[in-house]
Amino acid sequence: MGENFRAVKVTEKVYWVGAIDWNIRDFHGYSTDRGTTYNAYLILSDKNVLMDTVKAPFFDEMIYRISSVIDPEKIDYIVSNHSEMDHSGSLVKTIGAVKPDKVFASKMGKAALTAHFHADVEGVVNEVKDGEVLELGDDTLTFMETRMLHWPDSMVSYLSGDSLLFSQDGFGMHLASSKRFGDEIEDSVLERESTKYYANILLPYSNLILKLIEKIKASGLDIKIIAPDHGPIWRKEPGKIVELYGKFAKMEPKNKAIVVYDTMWQSTAKMAAAIEDGLADSGTEAKVFSMGSNHRSDVVTEIIDAGALIVGSPTLNNNIFPTLADLLTYMKGLKPKNLIGQAFGSYGWSGESPKILQGLLADMEVELVGEMVRAQYVPTGDSLESCHALGKEVSKRLKAIAGK
Ligand code: FEO
Repeated sequence: MGENFRAVKVTEKVYWVGAIDWNIRDFHGYSTDRGTTYNAYLILSDKNVLMDTVKAPFFDEMIYRISSVIDPEKIDYIVSNHSEMDHSGSLVKTIGAVKPDKVFASKMGKAALTAHFHADVEGVVNEVKDGEVLELGDDTLTFMETRMLHWPDSMVSYLSGDSLLFSQDGFGMHLASSKRFGDEIEDSVLERESTKYYANILLPYSNLILKLIEKIKASGLDIKIIAPDHGPIWRKEPGKIVELYGKFAKMEPKNKAIVVYDTMWQSTAKMAAAIEDGLADSGTEAKVFSMGSNHRSDVVTEIIDAGALIVGSPTLNNNIFPTLADLLTYMKGLKPKNLIGQAFGSYGWSGESPKILQGLLADMEVELVGEMVRAQYVPTGDSLESCHALGKEVSKRLKAIAGK
């Protein structure tokens, strides 16, 4: 079994020794339809280094891959760039197997690892400072803190010689593949999965990302390869994914609107269709999602370049549908920016849902445009006309914002 797990050469000195999780479909609330990888890397130098580990169930796979290159006990140092369990889950077991001279993490990383593993890492983890350089012999590793990208402990490590940035979660994506490099995978898949990853993991920290990109540019650091902790390695034109991140972080609205709803007896669905018709009639790209059949993380992926969010729900027990509450709670935490929007929904007798939705939109600083639409039981021609007019009104405002 073990011989099936081999390391993949990245450079003469760096090997990928991670694990492929083909079947994970939920990553703390994010639907990972294409699975993921937990990337760990082995650096061969005068001092051998293991860069991050893998999620606990994949420990054996990582050790087999390391063993295809060197005896794991020849690893001198382990670096923990990020203490989240998908990268540190097998750290304690790895320390036991490898018996490294030292384990390194940022100051916050040391605290986080201690809070995760308690006595198992007591006195084991060495703190490194932002900008600190670790001599490996011919090569050096430079550590750079990237606090809140996306945890307080997060840091990245830069390997001289290969000019390789171990970027931890940054520039990654959830994508299981037998291919290890971005240039071996179709661009459409890379774009979709990197957008989904950014929208669902990094969106709240967009201002910090813009600052980090500026900091890297100002440092004059030559980066030839970016090796993230999930998904493919960027060995050709790594600037492309950095540029894409810059675009994501700005959240500049396109002439595109998202209509999201759930429905009880198809009345709110009819209203959503009329809004979509108004948007499309006016030249705005519209995407419509029923929360009865779409995952929250796919809707959030679309919001990254949309300029409008129009949400609808029937009134259920004086409240909104739980699927809309789920979506908007999740979305609020991701702090989307630059959105306009409005609410709509059908009702039987009390009809609170659109008003509640408006409040939730306001919590996300969504600018309300046009008139909220409510329809009792089954929408009439008049109420569907109001929905159509809402679509047109949103489109008009959106085109002014998006400059189209
Ligand atoms: Fe891939 Fe934040 O862990």
